[in-house]
Amino acid sequence: MQEGHLPVLVEEVMSMLAPAPGSLQIDATLGGGGHTERILEATDPDGRLLGLDADGAAIARVDGRLRPRFGDRLVLRQANFRELRTVAPDAGFGAVDGLLFDLGLSSFQLADAARGFGIRTGGPLDMRFDTSRGVPAAELLATLDAAELTALFRRFGEEPQAPRIARAIVAARKTASIATAEELAALVERVAPGNPRVRRRIHPATRVFQALRIAVNEELDALQDGLAAAVDLLRPGGRLVVLSYHSLEDRIVKRFIAAERRGCTCPPELPVCVCGRNPRLRLVTRPSLTPTATEIAANPRARSARLRAAERLAA
Ligand SMILES: C[S@@+](CC[C@H](N)C(=O)[O-])C[C@H]1O[C@@H](n2cnc3c(N)ncnc32)[C@H](O)[C@@H]1O
Repeated sequence: MQEGHLPVLVEEVMSMLAPAPGSLQIDATLGGGGHTERILEATDPDGRLLGLDADGAAIARVDGRLRPRFGDRLVLRQANFRELRTVAPDAGFGAVDGLLFDLGLSSFQLADAARGFGIRTGGPLDMRFDTSRGVPAAELLATLDAAELTALFRRFGEEPQAPRIARAIVAARKTASIATAEELAALVERVAPGNPRVRRRIHPATRVFQALRIAVNEELDALQDGLAAAVDLLRPGGRLVVLSYHSLEDRIVKRFIAAERRGCTCPPELPVCVCGRNPRLRLVTRPSLTPTATEIAANPRARSARLRAAERLAA
């Protein structure tokens, strides 16, 4: 097992994915490669896995750690999972038996002060998974007006104090830009300190940091696109497993699976189906699974995890 990032709900992921020797698997969020390592072990001797990550550092780290053991059974690409529909077939994974998404960020990214993901880690406010594209968080804070910042904190952070925080950012940047995680955390703590009892466990800037990260990486749109591509790539009987860490992500996953279980998209007032869509997924477990208290004690990052799994039907 690698150090630095413990894979979440790993036994549950393995039992839902049920990767068999010789199968083709995709890990759409490679991270530290913890799940990938277990999947490659389970698909020994000839299963192959395509690992994607938007973050080039994750690809390089896992390449160094796992390549010597698994050789060309492990295929790695630096890519956003939004691009799965083209990246997977190009890499020889056009029809697969299992596909895993473990959303959000890894402990490596959180601990890296140069990335600005962590409230307590500090560092320049970048927050991009792929630092070669897009706009860093500091630039959003410098350019969006108060109404846009309010909408962002509300939509992606469900932050009740969004207008107050947005106004404070716009006022503060007239004197100096908000360039680091420490500066943003201190500003939020000053203008929206929240309930002192909650504050001991959860920093008042948590929702603002989440909102910025989601916006910077267009995470919710990427998830919609990635899930849609995943169902197309799965063979009948293939499994989709998704781990999400907050309600905005989980809602998308839940609704997506529900729509694919239903198939038909005709309005209920129509007496017969005219869309002709068939169900393409069925549930393989209870609607969702969460970690045990023992796992949370050993790995606090697992605290908010929720696993959903579905199987591709022949439709
Ligand atoms: C929670 S970590 C995955 C941890 C991994 N399962 C393990 O066991 O080590 C999530 C990873 O997904 C990557 N990621 C997040 N969104 C992505 C996207 N849209 N496309 C590609 N990679 C993404 C992040 O860069 C991060 O490395």
